[in-house]
Formats: sequence, C-alpha cells, structure tokens
Amino acid sequence: MKSITDLLENNRIWAERISAEDPEFFSRLSHQQTPKYLWIGCADSRVPANEIVGLEPGELFVHRNVANLVIHTDMNCLSVLEYAVDVLHVEHIIVCGHYGCGGIAATLKQQSYGLVDNWLRHVGDIVNKYTRELSAMTSEKERSDFLCEMNVIEQVINVCNTTIVRDTWLRGQDVSVHGMIYAVEDGLLRDMHVHAASDADLQMLLRR
Ligand code: CO
Repeated sequence: MKSITDLLENNRIWAERISAEDPEFFSRLSHQQTPKYLWIGCADSRVPANEIVGLEPGELFVHRNVANLVIHTDMNCLSVLEYAVDVLHVEHIIVCGHYGCGGIAATLKQQSYGLVDNWLRHVGDIVNKYTRELSAMTSEKERSDFLCEMNVIEQVINVCNTTIVRDTWLRGQDVSVHGMIYAVEDGLLRDMHVHAASDADLQMLLRR
C-alpha cells in the first residue's frame, strides 16, 4: 500500500516530467485557467475525470460527489456550476455517471451507510419514478445499469432546470449539457445522446 511519502514522491516526479516536456507549463497555468468543460461526476476513485478524457490540468473544471447528483439546493454544486458558466464561460457541461456505481447499488439494495442514505434518497426518488420498468427486469445488474443511465438523464435535466443554466440560455450564451456514462470494465465513455443546448431541447428531454 502506498504511503503519504510515496504520494509526495510521485508528485515530484510528475511535476519534473511535465516541466521537462514543457518548461512553461506550470507558469502558464498559474496565470489563468480556461477550461471549456465542466465535469459533474461520481466521487468513485475508478472514474478519474481528467484521465479518462485525456485532458491536462487547466482543461476540465470538475465537481464530483457520490452518484453524480445535481440537487437544486446543493450550494456546493450550484456554486461550481455558476462559476463555471458565468466566470469561466465553459461551453459544455458533462454529467458523467458510471456503471456499477456504489451509490446506485446501495439505493437498489436499500443498504444503509449512514448520512449518505439521505443524499441517496434522491436516487430513491428515481427508483420510485421507474418502479414499473425496474420490476420487469430479471437481474440485479440489469436494474443497476438501467438506474445508472436514468440517473444521468435526471441529472442532465436538473442541470438544465437550474436558474444558472436557464439564465445563461436566456442571455444567449452558448452552453450545452451532455449525459455520458463510463464503464469501469472497459474504460470506455459512452455518449448517451442526451443533449440540451436550449429550453426547447430541455422540453424535448422532459417529454421523452
Ligand atoms: Co459512483
């Protein structure tokens, strides 16, 4: 198992390697960040945002929490979203779920882990919405995969419904919201073809 000193050593080697490849890299980054993307993903250690989309420091603004939820009263997520859109002018917001999400599994199995149960209650609401579909499925994996996907769609809708994104569209600023899902098994990110770049797109999503 790695110790904290290993991490510091890893960091030193990493910084040296980057500087060797591009001596101006860190001094350039220290002056500004101009990411074009906001990533809203799960806190799961197997889904490291920058790495799986091949982006360098400075290219991806990131918010992660358990089960990649966008809750309308979560000031943490909303603050990230507002800063990303209003100050950094990101052009794309990616909500990324992943198959095998522990938060989704815990909700389906009604397992209790403490405080997080309250957070995951929001996933429980999605379970209630799709009770009919879920009860028709024969395996736990099928239910879990389905719920992981539906959760992404619900969170894309939640992003679009924030005052932040709605005001952005009203101003005519270009921001697109995308739903994606990652598979830990093969390392591949799948576009769920759930996109919204306007209120009209959002209305289409709500009618699907
Ligand atoms: Co997860």
